[in-house]
Amino acid sequence: MTQLQNPSPLAALDQANKSLASHPKGGISAPDQVTVTAVTHWTDKLFSFQTDRPPGFRFQSGEFAMIGLVDDEGKAVTRAYSIASPHWDDHLEFYSIIVPDGPLTSRLRHVQIGDKIILRSKTTGTLGLARLRDGQRLYLLATGTGFAPFAALIRDPEIYERFEQVILVHGCRTIAELGYSQKIVADSRAHPLIGEMVTRQLHYVPSVTRENFTQTGRITTLLADGKLASSLSLPPLDPAFDRIMICGSIGLNQDIAAQLLEKNFHEGNLSSPGDYVIERAFVGDGI
Ligand code: FAD
Ligand code: A2P
Repeated sequence: MTQLQNPSPLAALDQANKSLASHPKGGISAPDQVTVTAVTHWTDKLFSFQTDRPPGFRFQSGEFAMIGLVDDEGKAVTRAYSIASPHWDDHLEFYSIIVPDGPLTSRLRHVQIGDKIILRSKTTGTLGLARLRDGQRLYLLATGTGFAPFAALIRDPEIYERFEQVILVHGCRTIAELGYSQKIVADSRAHPLIGEMVTRQLHYVPSVTRENFTQTGRITTLLADGKLASSLSLPPLDPAFDRIMICGSIGLNQDIAAQLLEKNFHEGNLSSPGDYVIERAFVGDGI
């Protein structure tokens, strides 16, 4: 992570941003390849990896980029990936599923330190703070690899300036699948620059559906029966105070959006910031 000596976390991160901003997007063109600098396998289906960050590569926390590999015929195979590291960090991080026969991940699963991967320079996405109206609490609701954009956002000081409380709910089938989010949250709480904000303002609610755990049940159920809010001693969801970001399978996204519409929440966009925003964690029905 960026090493900074300024005692104030926000001033230090601001300084890091300015140094990144001194390489304007489009100024120095970001090369299409980055080098893998770390790899961690969490389960037989989930891994994360870090790469170096080209000086001209700029993005907002929560956005995604196209990454990939060159296949045996020399053709680039790229897919959308949320960037799991925050915008101020000096490396890039990704969190990936392994689809056994997937054109990209059947090969990406084997990447090692020193390997090159393709990174396209354009970034985009709907999980941006600019699309949300001000509020008191921000709920981040993710299943599976849908946690990736929130791994970036919970490390971005701006969310703690905009919202008094941030509630991160990560739903998975098994406890082992929570490994990555548990580590990111623990490291963020201990981080010398953002740790204090994270410890004070972030509530982390991991939940599993196919094993016994301290918290069990689908996110949709936890929201609908009010268990989520009551377990944190928070009032029921209310569009006057609560903002929501959702990232999961099509089914999860649709089911939560339906619940929010019933409660009078409005989807936000750049021209008309609203109460919630949604991003697909992947295209298709899941594996
Ligand atoms: P594909 O042919 O792309 O997918 C095959 C099938 O696998 C899909 O039809 C679907 O049923 C299933 N699948 C694909 N991705 C997932 C997943 N993540 N979780 C569960 N089932 C899946 N994937 C990540 O692993 N990490 C990310 O951060 C990420 N961010 C994304 C952001 C956006 C906006 C979108 C649209 C997709 C994102 N994906 C992410 C999915 C990613 O683009 C690929 O689909 C995935 O890496 C598998 O690629 P593949 O070529 O091996 O298989
Ligand atoms: P469940 O085990 O009951 O299917 P997946 O690994 O299939 O992407 O699922 C990740 C998590 O998301 C699982 O806990 C799964 O619960 C849950 N899930 C899947 N579909 C939905 C949905 N439509 N609404 C809420 N949670 C869902």
